[in-house]
Amino acid sequence: MSARVLTTSLALACATACGPTVKTAPTEAPLPAEAGQVVPAPGGIEFPRKYKNWPVLSVTQRPDKETLRVVLGNVTAVRAARRGETNPWPNGTIIASTLWKQAPGQGTSQSLTAGEFIRAEFMFKDVETYASNDSGWGWARWNGTELVPYGSDESISEECRDCHKKVSGNDWIFMKPAILP
Ligand code: HEC
Repeated sequence: MSARVLTTSLALACATACGPTVKTAPTEAPLPAEAGQVVPAPGGIEFPRKYKNWPVLSVTQRPDKETLRVVLGNVTAVRAARRGETNPWPNGTIIASTLWKQAPGQGTSQSLTAGEFIRAEFMFKDVETYASNDSGWGWARWNGTELVPYGSDESISEECRDCHKKVSGNDWIFMKPAILP
């Protein structure tokens, strides 16, 4: 094959294979978690379908459990955090903690990244609805990518509160919103 023919055939092949891949935007079809297909937690708390669109409040790591966590907040939470009005957090606040097993970063041994998804857990601030527990928050956890509700009855909230009680002076929240200038 002459050099010219080769160049031409390469150019033709590249026109179809080497250029940037053009992809149309994904459709708006909801994923299962967004379509309301997740079973509510014991006590009837609904899974917050839109949590994935919430802004980040902070990130945490548990070296002992080898997990990485991202803390997200709904609009009410984020507004309060940005104004420093978080003790107490306003009614309507929802805070999510999403957990992954830590995994080695791709193509590098110097970083850790999110591996297997472990769970998402939420605190819902509503002093009227949750007047019967001393925290003023509703508590719920969903496990694994199937988002299976944790616990068989409402008593799971006691387990959460027993541990979070250590920070009851900080409205039951451990996290301090991360600085985002
Ligand atoms: C044994 C102690 C313990 C128990 C039990 C526990 N938590 Fe937590 N939780 C923590 C600690 C410590 C943090 C902060 C560190 C981190 O991000 O994991 C936290 C963080 C959170 C956060 C992020 C906001 C914050 O306080 O920083 C949410 C939401 C949360 N937990 C929900 C729950 C729910 C819901 C349950 C019960 C199903 C629960 N937790 C049970 C210790 C506990």
